[in-house]
Amino acid sequence: MEAKRRIALIVDDEVALCLALEKYLKREGFDTAIANDGQKAVSLAREIRPDLIILDVKMPEMSGDRALAEIRKFDSDSVIIMATAVEDIEISLLTLKGGADDFLRKPIMLGELLHSIQSNLEKRRLIAENRAYQKTLEFKVAEQTAELTRLYDELKITNREIILAFSEAIEAKDPYTKGHCRRVAAYSVRLGEAACVSKERLEALETGAMLHDIGKIGVGEAILNKPGKLTQEEFESVKAHPVIGYNITSTINTLRDVSRIVRNHHEHYDGSGYPDKLANTQIDIMSRIVLIADAYDAMTSDRPYRKGMPREKALAILWECSGTQFDPGLVKFFIEGKLYLITE
Ligand SMILES: [Fe+2]
Repeated sequence: MEAKRRIALIVDDEVALCLALEKYLKREGFDTAIANDGQKAVSLAREIRPDLIILDVKMPEMSGDRALAEIRKFDSDSVIIMATAVEDIEISLLTLKGGADDFLRKPIMLGELLHSIQSNLEKRRLIAENRAYQKTLEFKVAEQTAELTRLYDELKITNREIILAFSEAIEAKDPYTKGHCRRVAAYSVRLGEAACVSKERLEALETGAMLHDIGKIGVGEAILNKPGKLTQEEFESVKAHPVIGYNITSTINTLRDVSRIVRNHHEHYDGSGYPDKLANTQIDIMSRIVLIADAYDAMTSDRPYRKGMPREKALAILWECSGTQFDPGLVKFFIEGKLYLITE
C-alpha cells in the first residue's frame, strides 16, 4: 500500500523563500501549500490539516506567534517550526512555550530544516501512537469493568436467589410461618436504616434476617410444629438452632456478618438470652435489630394453635420488655417511627 503523502504548509511573506522551500519539500516527498500572511495560514491550516507548518515569525497583519496560538486552538498534532530572524530570538523562544516544536534562524539551512522536520515528525508520531495505545487501553479497561460489573450483578442476583431458597427451606419446616423470614427482613432493614446502619451492613442485615432461623433445619419437625407446651428437653433442642445455624453459615466466608446475626438473634439486652448470654452492646446491633423484628412478627402472625395478637398489644409488649429483652433505643425507633408498617 502506498504511504499517505504528508502535507506541508509554508507561511512567509517573502514569496521567493516560500517557492524555494516548496521546491525543496516537494523533493522530500511532501504535498505543499503556501500562505503569505498569518490570517491565511490559520484558515488554510484549518482546511487542509497539514502535518508540517513552517511559520515565519515576522509578518504584517498577523505575526507568526499569533498565528501559532490560533492554529494550536484546533490543531495540537501538526509539527510547527518557526522561522525567525536573529533579532526575534526571544519571541521564538516564547513560541516554544506556545506550542511550536522548534525554531530555525533565517537564512534557513536546508540540512538543518530537514533534520528538524524528521525528528519532530518522529516525535509527533510517537506521541500519536502512545495516545492511540492509551485509548485502546482505556477502552479495554472500560470493557472489562463493564463485564465485571455485569458478573457482580449476576452473582448478587444468584446470591439473593440462594438466600430466598434457604429461607423457603426454613419455612417449609413449619408451613404456618410462611412469609415470616421476608417480613423479619423487611422490618430489620427499616430499623437498620433508622439506626444509620451503613449500606453495606444493611445487605448483611437483610440476609441475616432472612436466614436467622436457618438452624431450625437441624431441629425435628415434630418439636417445631408441636401445638402444646414443649418439654424442657424439647425446648433445649429448639434453643440449639442459633448455634446450628451459625455452624452452617460461618463456613461461608461472605456470610461472616450474617452468621453472627444467626448466632445472636436470641440474645437479650439484659444478658438473659441464649446461646452465649451476651448483654447490651456485646450483642451486635444487627442481632439486636433482628430480635425485635422477629419477636414482633412472631407475636402478630397467626399460628395453627393461636391467632396473631393485635398490633397494639404486640407494641405494648415491646415497650414492656424494652431494656430487658430488647434494646430500648431500637424499640423507640421501631414504635415511634412506625417501622412496623410494611407492605408485603
Ligand atoms: Fe430463632
